[in-house]
Amino acid sequence: MKRLTVLLTMFVVMTAASARTLVVYYSFTNNTATIVSSLAARLPGADVVRIEPAEEGLVYAADGYALGSALIAAIRENPDDASSYPEIKPVSVDLAAYDEIIVATPLWWSNMAAPMQTFLFHNGGQMTGKRVGLIVSSASSGISGVEDDAHRLIPGGEFVSPSLWIRSSQTGNCHDMIAGWLDETGLGGSTGIVTAANDAPVVRCVNGALSVDGSYDRLSVYDLAGNLLVDGADDAPATALAADDVYLVRVVSGQTEVVNKVVVTE
Ligand SMILES: Cc1cc2nc3c(=O)[nH]c(=O)nc-3n(C[C@H](O)[C@H](O)[C@H](O)COP(=O)(O)O)c2cc1C
Repeated sequence: MKRLTVLLTMFVVMTAASARTLVVYYSFTNNTATIVSSLAARLPGADVVRIEPAEEGLVYAADGYALGSALIAAIRENPDDASSYPEIKPVSVDLAAYDEIIVATPLWWSNMAAPMQTFLFHNGGQMTGKRVGLIVSSASSGISGVEDDAHRLIPGGEFVSPSLWIRSSQTGNCHDMIAGWLDETGLGGSTGIVTAANDAPVVRCVNGALSVDGSYDRLSVYDLAGNLLVDGADDAPATALAADDVYLVRVVSGQTEVVNKVVVTE
């Protein structure tokens, strides 16, 4: 219990003067997921949430994009009707805890992908006054329709400009685009850039697996009850954590110590 108190205190001290950043994204063919991995590596203090359709295994591009087209058409016809939006899996996130929200989404027929629209339809009203950044992945179309959707679904958001458009063909090489965009918009602020500048290891949690980029001397993971779950040296393997849970991850590298709160998503 004593150890938990110490860790929580450190966390508060490290983040008190920082913006809290949430990255929320949807990805069907994993281009946006790849982009978010690169983004998260630059924002080690940010929490990352992936939106998932309630029904698994749907192929939106099958039969000439029939399903994807139908979903977008339904939203266009009745954008104010909750039944127009496809169901998504429950998302456990306290939006009030964040100052900045980065929304990353594919483009579908000049609009925001339908599952992301569902999340924002139900939650965008809680983003009033927050800085909002938009990242859009598309094959070739411009992103203005997605920006329009974002403004409609997050009416009180303080959108940063510009949004970041990453074409599918640029996905594997998007690191510099993301770095430039964060610099230009100021998003991410002091949540992670300071840490990265110190060459501290970057903690990531993608699809339920915890990993650390960069070398470190010791990695410790605690649950919020203060139980030590992992205590390993540099070559500790990636650690699987339970979905929807929150952990404190402490990484020690030389004289540098970083404590991150990690929300696990699947
Ligand atoms: C239903 C559907 C509609 C799409 N419509 C467009 C489009 O109008 N213009 C475009 O450039 N790309 C379009 N795409 C391609 C995606 O925007 C692109 O492949 C994107 O990188 C996918 O991101 P993801 O891998 O994160 O799902 C569409 C994809 C799907 C599944």
